[in-house]
Amino acid sequence: MTRVLLFTLCIAILFNNVFSLTAKDISECPPIPHHSPPISVHDLRADDIRVIAALGDSVTAGLVAKNVNTTYLTNEQFVEYRGLSWLMGGDKGAASLANYFKNFQPDLYGSSIGDKPARLCEETFFCLDSRHDPSVDFLNAAQSGATSNELPEQVDYLTEQIGLHTEHATSWKLINIFIGFNDASVSCLPGKSVEQYKANVKNSLIQLFERVDYALVNIIGIMQYNDLIHITDKVPGYKKRFQGNTTDLLNFECYCCRHPDGGIKFIGEKVKEYNRVLSEVAEELSGSVFNDIMGPLEGKVRKNVSVVYQPMNPIIATVPPHSLSNVDGYHPNTVGYTYLSKALWNQLYLPKDKKARIDVFNASRPVFCPTEHDRLKTYQRIL
Ligand SMILES: *[C@@H]1O[C@H](CO)[C@@H](O)[C@H](O)[C@H]1NC(C)=O
Ligand SMILES: *[C@@H]1O[C@H](CO)[C@@H](O)[C@H](O)[C@H]1NC(C)=O
Ligand SMILES: *[C@@H]1O[C@H](CO)[C@@H](O)[C@H](O)[C@H]1NC(C)=O
Ligand SMILES: *[C@@H]1O[C@H](CO)[C@@H](O)[C@H](O)[C@H]1NC(C)=O
Repeated sequence: MTRVLLFTLCIAILFNNVFSLTAKDISECPPIPHHSPPISVHDLRADDIRVIAALGDSVTAGLVAKNVNTTYLTNEQFVEYRGLSWLMGGDKGAASLANYFKNFQPDLYGSSIGDKPARLCEETFFCLDSRHDPSVDFLNAAQSGATSNELPEQVDYLTEQIGLHTEHATSWKLINIFIGFNDASVSCLPGKSVEQYKANVKNSLIQLFERVDYALVNIIGIMQYNDLIHITDKVPGYKKRFQGNTTDLLNFECYCCRHPDGGIKFIGEKVKEYNRVLSEVAEELSGSVFNDIMGPLEGKVRKNVSVVYQPMNPIIATVPPHSLSNVDGYHPNTVGYTYLSKALWNQLYLPKDKKARIDVFNASRPVFCPTEHDRLKTYQRIL
């Protein structure tokens, strides 16, 4: 009896150690020892990932990720810092999911590099049509201003490069999708619905899976940005303004925030519903339901693809103003990106029921160091 107990205790300690290996910076994590190749999409380690890609909006494009030091704003300060993007940034030292993966797999392809001016248009401030620059974007298909309606175009951009007939066809891919802020922003307009948002996301992922193999998709939940946009109000003068005009970017970036048919509470409810349907899409596109959608399979998974939902929901009261850009007071800046990228990285290794539904903001939290025993968790067991 005692011996059994002692044995159990030793195992527990051993496992605790295995699971609690962390570092202040990913570069301090030990490399993952050489191992046999993965047998399926449910068997992936960080160093198996050869391609990283993303679908999304301005937050993934890196828009206004650097604070500015001028008294007044100029249009030239609206820059997409794609190399710093919390998901896709490949600039040296950038706190990003892409760089965390690259730490374990130096040949990782797809990270976006450098920056480019945001495209501004008279009526909507940010131009709403898509334009990709492969020499900066690489596989970061995100577009400032994009809603879920624009996903098919982004899927096209990616599948041209990593689809079934490309050199990356059988490389293991991590494809991230983070979209919904701009859907929420116009959600008070006629014809906009949560059901439509869900259908847009689901249909574009089905499109993707018809044209791509060897892919794990992260569907990332969106934050309560209805509350985020007021955090910087606590620090008067932090959020910059244009000289000589009273343009408030919030009116462009969140059209329905001040609309009589919308409002902050309305947007907050939409965000909750979007996250609920995003997790439903992940369930529906993994396992047997996914097989039904993709056609007859004789009890086997047809492709090496899977989907996981990753909740990203910092408690608003814990989010410091300096983690948001002082250009518009609402996009996360590099401080915000540090928190977001670490929080996401750490939960990739947690099973569905252990992922944090809400989280305390902490940009200096340690990062998880995976060993050869740790897999990027899917909803299925290996095999
Ligand atoms: C603004 O100043 C800070 C502190 O001096 C600096 O780290 C940052 O790079 C500057 N930002 C720009 C856009 O030059
Ligand atoms: C305010 O100034 C900015 C920057 O020059 C410009 O883009 C915007 O159109 C101006 N707004 C108005 C109402 O004049
Ligand atoms: C998944 O990938 C593994 C490793 O490359 C391969 O052996 C297996 O046949 C693939 N499964 C499917 C359903 O394509
Ligand atoms: C953030 O994480 C660091 C490192 O673990 C810890 O020292 C610090 O207390 C945490 N801060 C908060 C506010 O939890």
